[in-house]
Amino acid sequence: MRASIKLREILEAAQVVRTFRPRPNCVFVSTLGVNNSWRSIASSLGFLAPTSTREYASSRSCGLAQRETNYFADRTHTCRFAENDVMIMHADTNRGIEVLLNPIYNKGTGFSLAEKERLGIRGLTPPRYFTIEQQCEKIWANLTEKGKTGMFRWRSMQALQDRNETLFYRLLVDHIEELAPVIYTPTVGEACLQYSRLFRRPRGMYFSADDVGHFNAMMYNWKNDVSVIVVTDGSRVLGLGDLGAHGMGISVGKLDLYVAGAGIEPSSVLPCVLDVGTDNEELLADPYYFGLPQKRIKGDAFMNIVDEFIQAVKNRWPKALVQFEDFSTDHAMPILKRHRENVLCFNDDIQGTAVVVLAGIYGAMAAMGKSPGAITEQTFVVCGAGSAGMGIVSFIHAALVHHGLSPQQAFERFYILDKHGLITSNRELKEGEPGVDDLRPFAESRRDLPDGINLREVIESAKPTALLGASTVSGLFTHEILTRMGELNKNPIIMPLSNPTSRAECTAEAAANATEGRAIFSAGSPFDDVSRNGVTMVANQGNNLYVFPGLGLGSILVGSNYISDGMLNAAAEAIPKTLHDGAIRRRAIYPRIADIRNVSVKVAAAVMKQAVDEDRENRGGKIGHMISREGIEGLERYVRSSMYYPEYRPTVFSPGSGRGTL
Ligand code: NAI
Repeated sequence: MRASIKLREILEAAQVVRTFRPRPNCVFVSTLGVNNSWRSIASSLGFLAPTSTREYASSRSCGLAQRETNYFADRTHTCRFAENDVMIMHADTNRGIEVLLNPIYNKGTGFSLAEKERLGIRGLTPPRYFTIEQQCEKIWANLTEKGKTGMFRWRSMQALQDRNETLFYRLLVDHIEELAPVIYTPTVGEACLQYSRLFRRPRGMYFSADDVGHFNAMMYNWKNDVSVIVVTDGSRVLGLGDLGAHGMGISVGKLDLYVAGAGIEPSSVLPCVLDVGTDNEELLADPYYFGLPQKRIKGDAFMNIVDEFIQAVKNRWPKALVQFEDFSTDHAMPILKRHRENVLCFNDDIQGTAVVVLAGIYGAMAAMGKSPGAITEQTFVVCGAGSAGMGIVSFIHAALVHHGLSPQQAFERFYILDKHGLITSNRELKEGEPGVDDLRPFAESRRDLPDGINLREVIESAKPTALLGASTVSGLFTHEILTRMGELNKNPIIMPLSNPTSRAECTAEAAANATEGRAIFSAGSPFDDVSRNGVTMVANQGNNLYVFPGLGLGSILVGSNYISDGMLNAAAEAIPKTLHDGAIRRRAIYPRIADIRNVSVKVAAAVMKQAVDEDRENRGGKIGHMISREGIEGLERYVRSSMYYPEYRPTVFSPGSGRGTL
């Protein structure tokens, strides 16, 4: 009797940590002996042929006993011997303590009395029980106390993630608007600067130049199944430049937002750094820098390292999404072009940013009471022909073509200026300059005006509906320019996208002053809304958070192996559809970050539908059937139901009832 109770407990413990799924042909092997009563319980729980390690080892003449001692520290261990999956269970480990110390299962003060009893942790946590909501309230009160800095919050959140993941994600979901700037930019930038010193517990994987040739094997050191990877080489972290292996902070933060923003399972994300050295002299001189203390590897050798990484990912998790993050401008586009058709991937700095700007333009269409297709009626003047400007322009061009213009008609919708003025077919473009390949067809299509004319002259000739800036020149959109935009349009679209605030082409105030608050304004940096004569001009700000979580979720759920421009356009069109009527009337063109999970559902469903339309679904027709049977609402229900939501799950399983006991 004692033995059977013990066995039931062991089996339940396995279910506590959810490592156990009885598969067909799974043999149960216990480090204790087995008697008939054990056999019947184990069989009733779905195991095949319960047996002892000794019996099993001798019947198979395999090295199980040896392997078993190697794994003695584990509570359960699954391995494959001969034709069987083998579940080895150790009766004598202290599962309660393990649950307490494991951030995935720990609930802190949130264990019920029944759980404490069954896990053997009664007395090891304080007596009073708190719900997850009460725990969140307490931590939130602590985080928001007066005088607490962004870095204090970042550290507190890290510590929380290290001890109780569920609570960490719940807090992040509940306060995403306030905490996204802590977990991610700008505070994470500050953390990245000192990441070696802040390092407490490993999170994610480091693939360094010293590991070349071993990436494939190393991938197997990560035990979970992975569906989303964010990888950086730390060469251009936010606006902070080369931070080498400290870029890990960016990959970690971004994936936290995937979990909170789109409900990607926390166990299925993998933050990665490709450590190829750093050219940051300060880090190289820092005795505590934890990355490779050497200059960056460049050229073909660098590309080979990226290739090896991608190949290793493909071998281990062929369906995983790889998001490239914060690679330097000279590498970002070549890497994307090299691997876009090779692995499910995208670059958030290039594509995510372009989608957000396009979403803003679709949002502007909505604010003017027009359909997304009205984008074809717009004329764009763009200042800045660098990689940011041209990435955005190329993507808007693709959207114009998507909505029915010929490529040539679409090129003619753009007037692009650089520091020398308007770029036309007469301009001699220099090979190898950032963005020049994208620029060429636009330049060649501009034959009607003299090369090099200034912004004011361009505006007089082009009569644009939209003015975009990616020039880094503060004040480039002068009062005169903005006033003229206001004269030409009832609601001119004004987008000073350069970062940081000090480089914005104009402020929200300047745009509101010159247009009596009629402008549809969106900036790359944050500004406050401005009221003029009783009219409030919303100072919109694009944020990639609207895009990447939903885009990632959708492309995984639909099983696509490619993220097409059509899918990216679908994401952009979906974002303003989440705006409420009141917001549209106020000329808000982006939803609130607090609504991010809803935005992600819409983005994911739109991306999936587009993938199905393009015949990119790889789920045996399941998604296509769902759309034809239940429509887009059915698809959205499916997306919602696939999302992880952080709440405590019962840690004590009651066999037979199919439910946990609390
Ligand atoms: P870049 O230095 O490569 O390009 C700047 C471009 O502006 C060049 O073509 C230059 O000739 C042009 N320019 C300079 N003075 C000008 C003038 N007076 N009139 C017209 N054009 C002029 O810079 P990059 O990487 O393209 O980035 C530009 C800006 O865009 C940065 O501030 C960056 O932070 C920002 N950016 C904003 C994003 C957003 O979504 N808000 C996304 C990515 C970048």
